[in-house]
Amino acid sequence: MLANKRILLIVAGGIAAYKTPDLVRRLRERGATVRCILTSSGAQFVSPLTLGAISEDRVYDNLLSLTDEYEMGHINLSRQADALLVAPATANLLAKMAQGLADDLATTVLLATDKPVLAAPAMNVQMWNHPATQVNLNTLASRGVKLIGPNEGDMACGEYGMGRMSEPLEITTTLEDFFAANKRLAGRRALVTSGPTYEPIDPIRYIANRSSGKQGHAIARALSNLGTKTTLVTGPTQQPDPPGVQVVHVESARQMLAACEAALPADIAVCAAAVADWRIDTEANQKLKKEAGSHPSPLVMVENPDILQTLSNTKTTRPGLVIGFAAETQNVIVNAKSKLAQKGCDWIIANNVSSEIGTFAGEANTVHLVTSEGVEDWPRLSKVEVGRRLADRIADTFETSHG
Ligand code: C5P
Repeated sequence: MLANKRILLIVAGGIAAYKTPDLVRRLRERGATVRCILTSSGAQFVSPLTLGAISEDRVYDNLLSLTDEYEMGHINLSRQADALLVAPATANLLAKMAQGLADDLATTVLLATDKPVLAAPAMNVQMWNHPATQVNLNTLASRGVKLIGPNEGDMACGEYGMGRMSEPLEITTTLEDFFAANKRLAGRRALVTSGPTYEPIDPIRYIANRSSGKQGHAIARALSNLGTKTTLVTGPTQQPDPPGVQVVHVESARQMLAACEAALPADIAVCAAAVADWRIDTEANQKLKKEAGSHPSPLVMVENPDILQTLSNTKTTRPGLVIGFAAETQNVIVNAKSKLAQKGCDWIIANNVSSEIGTFAGEANTVHLVTSEGVEDWPRLSKVEVGRRLADRIADTFETSHG
């Protein structure tokens, strides 16, 4: 299945482009989202209207369009994809890719991307057999471009031979296999906390914080995409449950701790929740009433359990890798380093949550990964990208040290 996968489909100018609406449909049926780039010759074979309607997204076609660049930008088109799929990949487009040309939106994105590229060639048999094409294909394959097909068969030009684009279902299956092989954390279990906690005052009122849950949810999703069996324990948020993730909804810190302990054992624990440090000592059974002439009684608070610290110090079931967050408004790195020692976790993701940076409600995050080995400063990334990068970093660690 292709759940959560974002495919950037580049449609070049070959007769096989007529199959691309069906390809988009097949990819979407399996849970992928598809965004299309149409070359100007591609647009001679399939209309932007058709691709736009089937993909339910706008179709991008022009590098020099101010609105396109303003709304999305060619770099973002690649950033917001898990893989680029070129179908049909014409002899001309493959040649440009091999040469590193960038004279339109499609080729510019292909040159600017750091994402996996898959290409389904489609051309006349003579063009396919031409040594120039074969050299280009070898060059691209040596750079990691994954070629899908082509098939042998009757061609639109009346000839017979190699060069027919693979059928949409074959392309879809190849993509599924490609992503399945990329499940670097298959067989691992992950536990992620996310969102705020609500600490009850009485049956109506509670104390909460501004955490949106975006970062924690993105991490759970990214880990799940790499194949972990993931449990997400979340406080109340507006975020939808990530597909494929087991989600446990809680309110208070104590409920969150209980749900985390119930989710053990796990190989990986990421505590991204903004857990309230304190709770009200005695929750009132009935709604507290305003009494005329009297002052409100002060709220007496006691400390909440520290979930990160508890998981880090669990005896038999300590996850192999425990990761915490340090939301700081000043001395970010220094505080993160001391938090690493104090909590007993393995990594701390430190981020600055000063209100002027807007991390809490925003889409982006600037984080520093603090480990016993040192500090990695990550660039400003979307929270989704931070999740993905963290999941990759976790997979690197398991591949090298945990075997
Ligand atoms: O101590 P501080 O709240 O700054 O620590 C932040 C880290 O500790 C976060 O990873 C957060 O999820 C975790 N934490 C926790 N339980 C608490 C308080 C914080 O798991 N009661």
